[in-house]
Amino acid sequence: MNAPETLPASPEPHVMKTYGRLPLALSYGKGCWVWDTEGKKYLDGLGGIAVNTLGHAHPKLVPALQEQIGKLIHSSNYYLVPLQEQLAAKLCELSGLSSVFFCSTGLEANEAALKIARKFGHDKGIDRPEIVVYEKAFHGRSIATLSATGNPKVQAGFGPLVEGFVRVPLNDVAALDKVARERANVVAVFLEVIQGEGGINPAKVEYLQAVRRICDERGWLLMLDEVQCGIGRTGKWFAHQWAGIRPDVMPLAKGLGSGVPVGAVVCGPRAASVLGPGNHGTTFGGNPLAMRAGVETLRIIEEEGLLANAASVGEALRAGLARELEGVAGVVEIRGQGLMLGIELNRPCGELLGRAAQAGLMLSVTADSVIRLVPPLILSRDEARQIVAILCPLIKEFLAGPAP
Ligand SMILES: Cc1ncc(COP(=O)(O)O)c(C=O)c1O
Repeated sequence: MNAPETLPASPEPHVMKTYGRLPLALSYGKGCWVWDTEGKKYLDGLGGIAVNTLGHAHPKLVPALQEQIGKLIHSSNYYLVPLQEQLAAKLCELSGLSSVFFCSTGLEANEAALKIARKFGHDKGIDRPEIVVYEKAFHGRSIATLSATGNPKVQAGFGPLVEGFVRVPLNDVAALDKVARERANVVAVFLEVIQGEGGINPAKVEYLQAVRRICDERGWLLMLDEVQCGIGRTGKWFAHQWAGIRPDVMPLAKGLGSGVPVGAVVCGPRAASVLGPGNHGTTFGGNPLAMRAGVETLRIIEEEGLLANAASVGEALRAGLARELEGVAGVVEIRGQGLMLGIELNRPCGELLGRAAQAGLMLSVTADSVIRLVPPLILSRDEARQIVAILCPLIKEFLAGPAP
């Protein structure tokens, strides 16, 4: 069928339409600000979807990456990569875990985690291992990770899905206990500490502690997807650290390389040696440029005290939003932690993406009705105040419009 003649010509006719895009192109950035090709300036409340940890053009990151590009971008995993050991050692120090597999994206990290769980089961003599996953979860868009994802929209059209997943609701210990009683082939529990794409839904501290206990009792692996909520975003290095627990397997990506693609699966002793030579690999994983980006990102987070900044500016942002939106009909809840915040409205609000961009603010809308803020961890109090000042009037105006 021909497209209706009234549709405007696409500015990107050769790019596959897997994203609905706003008609603007970003050209450059500095700190928490970005400029489009027309010269319009935006405050970055999105951070490239929780990726640009250090904002844009960070004065310490840029020269380090330039130096690395001039030395060696890629070598191959046939040889030792000293920067891999350097980044792995740092991630182990920060997490208390013991070894790391490197890849390039979140779905790849999760795919590796799922393979670890299955092989962990096979090594114990379980031929058809099962992994507990969650309603509203998001783990990526490969066939296995979309099967683990708890969103029918992400799965639609891609069946048959990968088998071997058992789904439960978040924060429901009784549901997990029931699985434990009824299913002998379970080998792992796999969840996000704060569900990102699912609408900024935090796992409760007590729930995480209960899941850790159940995993220990049953000999299951606890696998925490910290792709979105990890790397300082909540004010601790990893979001699960607020619950005082340690996972066995922790996939990371997004913020780890400040925009350079880096994925990692950090494993504790029970999972560290499940995969051996020939079991898994990826060409780009752990290349020197990616590793340098990871090493420098973690170093700069430490040097600049960005965990404390994420916690305190995040709290100020949340308080500002709460103050401005108090009593506004249609605001259901403000939730999240540090610089990972969601404002749930009582109706789908995707159009706020465009309205916010027009007003000079980058943000996203997830799970249809949740406005998501995941800005760079360098956000200042004043910039947090500006986010509140731009966003809250937009929300009020939107909610004053026709009800759903
Ligand atoms: C929690 C979580 N896991 C995995 C992914 C997939 O990461 P990627 O898009 O890098 O494949 C995402 C992406 O949004 C995510 O939020």
